[in-house]
Amino acid sequence: MLRKTLYYGYERLLTDEVKKHGVPRHVAVIMDGNRRYADRVRIVRYYGHIYGARTTEQFLEWCWELGIQQTTIYAFSTENFSRPEPERAKIFEIIAKKLCELADDPRTHERRMKVSAIGEVHLLPTHLQDAIRRVEKVTCNYDGLHLNIAVAYGGQREILDAVQDMARKVQAGELRADDINESVVSCHMYTNGVADSDVDLIIRTGGDIRTSNFLPWQANGSECAAYFCAPFWPEFRKIDFLRAIRVYQTREHEQKQSALIRTANMLAACGSAKMGDVAGHLRGAILHRHPG
Ligand code: IPE
Ligand code: IPE
Ligand code: MG
Repeated sequence: MLRKTLYYGYERLLTDEVKKHGVPRHVAVIMDGNRRYADRVRIVRYYGHIYGARTTEQFLEWCWELGIQQTTIYAFSTENFSRPEPERAKIFEIIAKKLCELADDPRTHERRMKVSAIGEVHLLPTHLQDAIRRVEKVTCNYDGLHLNIAVAYGGQREILDAVQDMARKVQAGELRADDINESVVSCHMYTNGVADSDVDLIIRTGGDIRTSNFLPWQANGSECAAYFCAPFWPEFRKIDFLRAIRVYQTREHEQKQSALIRTANMLAACGSAKMGDVAGHLRGAILHRHPG
C-alpha cells in the first residue's frame, strides 16, 4: 500500500518535471526481454509476449499523454525470422490481433493516428499482411499522430532498398546522382510519407546496450538520445518512460549549452575587450545554470 502510494507520488513528480521542458517529437522503442521475463516469473514464453503487448498499449497512452507526435515500435526484426516457427506464429498472431484492435479503437480515430508498418511486409504471413493493410487503410488520411510498427524490419535492409530504388531512378533518368542528398535519401526510406522522420530518442529495455539494426538512418548517425534500461519490456513502468524522457531533455539542454559556449568562445576570439566581457558573462551564466 505504502509502496503504491510512494510510486504514484514519484510518478506524478516526474510527470510534472518532464512537462516543464520540451518533449521529444519522435520516440522509438526496442521492446526487449519478453522471454526472459516469462522465464523469471515461470510462465510459458508465449505469455511473455502477451504481457509485452499490454505494455505496448500502455506505452502508447503515455506517449499520448505527453504529446509525443510520432512513435516507432520494434515488434519483429528480420533477424527474428530465425526463431522457431511456433514462436514466430504466436508473435505474428499477437501483432495481428493488436493491429485489429487498434483499427477499431475509438482512441485511434479521436486522436487521428496514422498507423504504418515499416519493414519487409511481404515476408509476413497473409493474415498479418491483411491486418496491416486494414489498419493502414482506415487511418491513411489521419495527420494527428504517427505510429510506425517496425515488423520484419532491418535497418541495413531499409538502406539497401533505398539505394536500389534510387539507383533504378538514376538509370531511368528520373533522378540525377548529383541531386541525391539527405532529404532525397529520407524520402526513399520506409518511413517516407511521415514528415521529418528523424528519431529524437531511442529506448531499449532488457539490459542490452545495442540498437540491433533499428532505424540507423533515422537516428541521424546516432545523434539522437538513447536510454537503455534493465527492466524487461513486460515490466517497463511509466516512471522508466519518464526517466527516458528526462535523459532526452538533459541531453538537449547540454547540446544548447555547448552551442552557447562555442558562441561565447567565438565572441572572445574576436578579440575586442567589450566582446570578451560579453563572452565571459555569457560563459559564467551558462556554467552556473543547473540542467533542467
Ligand atoms: C522481444 O523480446 C520481443 C521480440 C523480439 C519479438 P524477446 O522475445 O527478444 O525476449 P528476450 O530478449 O529473449 O527475453
Ligand atoms: C530486438 O530484440 C528486436 C525487437 C525488439 C523486435 P532481439 O532480442 O531480437 O535483439 P537481439 O538479437 O538480442 O539484439
Ligand atoms: Mg530479445
